[in-house]
Amino acid sequence: MAKPHILQVGPYPQWDEEPLNEAFQVHRYFEAEDKQAFLSQVGPQVRGIATRGELGANRIMIEACPNLEVISVYGVGYDAVDLAVCRERGIRVTNTPDVLTNDVADLGIAMMLVQSRGIIGAETWVKDGSWAAKGLYPLKRRVWGRKAGVLGLGRIGFEVAKRLKGFDMDIAYSDVSAKSYAEGMEFVSDPVELARRSDFLFVTLAASAETRHIVGRAVIEALGPEGMLINISRASNIDEEALLEALENRQLGSAALDVFEGEPKLNPRFLALDNVLLQPHHASGTVETRKAMGQLVRDNLMAHFDGRALLTPVI
Ligand code: 8YV
Repeated sequence: MAKPHILQVGPYPQWDEEPLNEAFQVHRYFEAEDKQAFLSQVGPQVRGIATRGELGANRIMIEACPNLEVISVYGVGYDAVDLAVCRERGIRVTNTPDVLTNDVADLGIAMMLVQSRGIIGAETWVKDGSWAAKGLYPLKRRVWGRKAGVLGLGRIGFEVAKRLKGFDMDIAYSDVSAKSYAEGMEFVSDPVELARRSDFLFVTLAASAETRHIVGRAVIEALGPEGMLINISRASNIDEEALLEALENRQLGSAALDVFEGEPKLNPRFLALDNVLLQPHHASGTVETRKAMGQLVRDNLMAHFDGRALLTPVI
């Protein structure tokens, strides 16, 4: 049987490229110089799209593929896929939940510790001779026993909260409703109130039009000059202009960020700050998780083209 044609939006690790090419006729969108011409040329043959969380598939891309049946996202977040057009056309969409949850939560916790204890600056202190020349490293803030807020107690938020319990932290969370599984955590429905009671505020919400800039000026001010914001979700959940202003004016203590508007090109104002920890959107970036994500992307595509039930459908 002829291999189904798929459009590959961005590169994957080598261990994914080979099995993908074996199972499908792959059209590598990211290698095309003239994207529009490429889409008009291959679009009519394309029955599937394999994309990544942050790249998604927009209306122009989807409309260029009149025979598209399925979009498989390498990532749990599917906010960059135009779901409205998929619904109109009956196009199925899948993602890779669960397999990445623990690694994303681990990175969030690591970012809190690194930033609060000044670990990056401490290494510089050793390497540049400051330890020998100036003496003891400046004192930093403790993590254990302090107050943590989790904005969005879904799969990732819950794993973050579980880990925070190990640090004997006082944990509260916001979500659309209280969760039966949130034992020993306080439900605070208003994100501003959550920020007010938090030393560390984790943003772990799935991004959507409704959550856009949910962390705005009011939340940032409530977190305050001693507070730390940790974002391992999507940049769109935070009003980046308000965040930059608050960091520059010290109205917010610090931020640890894995995601940015317009990434990988981030606002250069971030680079001038000494109260941020900046990470290159790699919360799911372990060999183990990325292998599982790649497998799930292919398994969903294969299930679809074999007429079997999708493993992890979004729609
Ligand atoms: C990316 C992600 O897909 O899971 C998500 O939603 O954003 C990530 O896992 C990853 O960076 C691969 O591009």
